[in-house]
Amino acid sequence: MSADEKPLIAIVGATSKQGRSVAATLLQSQRFRVRALTRKKDSPEALRLEERGAEIVIVPLELGRQKDLVAAFKGADGAFLMTPPIAPPETIEAPLGRQLADAAVEAGVGHIVFSTLENVDKITNGTKYAPHFTDKARVADHIRGLPISHSFVILAFFYTNLLEYYVPRMEGDTLLLPVYLPEDFRAPFVDPLTATGPVVLEIFSNPERYNGKTLPIVGDIISPREMVETFQRVTGLKAAYRNAFTRDGLLHYFPEFAANELLVRELLGMVEYAVDYGYFGKEHDLEWSRRLNPGTLNWEHYLRTTGWRGDKRSFGL
Ligand SMILES: NC(=O)c1ccc[n+]([C@@H]2O[C@H](COP(=O)([O-])OP(=O)(O)OC[C@H]3O[C@@H](n4cnc5c(N)ncnc54)[C@H](OP(=O)(O)O)[C@@H]3O)[C@@H](O)[C@H]2O)c1
Repeated sequence: MSADEKPLIAIVGATSKQGRSVAATLLQSQRFRVRALTRKKDSPEALRLEERGAEIVIVPLELGRQKDLVAAFKGADGAFLMTPPIAPPETIEAPLGRQLADAAVEAGVGHIVFSTLENVDKITNGTKYAPHFTDKARVADHIRGLPISHSFVILAFFYTNLLEYYVPRMEGDTLLLPVYLPEDFRAPFVDPLTATGPVVLEIFSNPERYNGKTLPIVGDIISPREMVETFQRVTGLKAAYRNAFTRDGLLHYFPEFAANELLVRELLGMVEYAVDYGYFGKEHDLEWSRRLNPGTLNWEHYLRTTGWRGDKRSFGL
């Protein structure tokens, strides 16, 4: 098969943790061409994607860009769609996601994969506030009504949250890990940088099989207590869990969140939802992604592979 005959996949948010994983896996498979959508052609991540063989196209992820998106999706056999982190009071996530999907339809894309989350508003009868979940679910509902073959992925909590957002700190000889979940609550976690790509490769390799399906991506189901125990065993460092799941706990360790009350409400709402209802709906087979890719990193393998010892990491953004 010549390079031009390989199916072309457009990737929105191609420099994100999820998008980067998808781009790297598709390129590595040598079965697909990749068109990477980004705001900045010359960022280190965009340059790295270009070096690996991706075509780079500049399209900001913002409203009013449908025409640019249609142009960027033209000729693509598939598109991976995701929305970037958006904090309240900003409310553009659902319209942004719908714009991506509508543009893919208009451009005649063969199959889309949208990275979604559960509809917290519907599941909790409006009692838990987690718009970055619910807005994605609303985009998914919109996509179900469009004339386009589609699949959804739902990623578990990212391990990287602890490296990027809820960063540990030393106190005396002990590394304190303030976690946004109760100590003994087992939650699904995953490494977006290595786990997203293999699942999306599988979907684009068999789009008919996965048309209309929602696929969970999970690396481990583990409690903060178990995460800290594993962290101590792997790193040899003395470490302890700290509560960052109540308002007091969260603001004690991360006082900067207090500047955005709606964001605090959203973080607490998300955690209460996960604890009371489960992060994933009961209908999902949480083993599926690990059967598909037995190399999916559990927490211990994640620590061993990344060598993380509690430092803050930014993932190149
Ligand atoms: N953290 C979790 O536990 C978790 C779990 C499941 C799902 N999610 C969802 O995953 C999504 C984030 O994915 P990710 O962590 O892979 O993304 P990320 O690493 O934070 O990257 C976001 C990308 O979006 C692009 N972007 C375009 N407009 C942006 C804007 N206004 N602000 C920030 N980035 C912008 C940036 O690329 P360029 O600069 O190249 O344009 C950037 O590479 C969110 O929607 C989040 O809700 C998170």
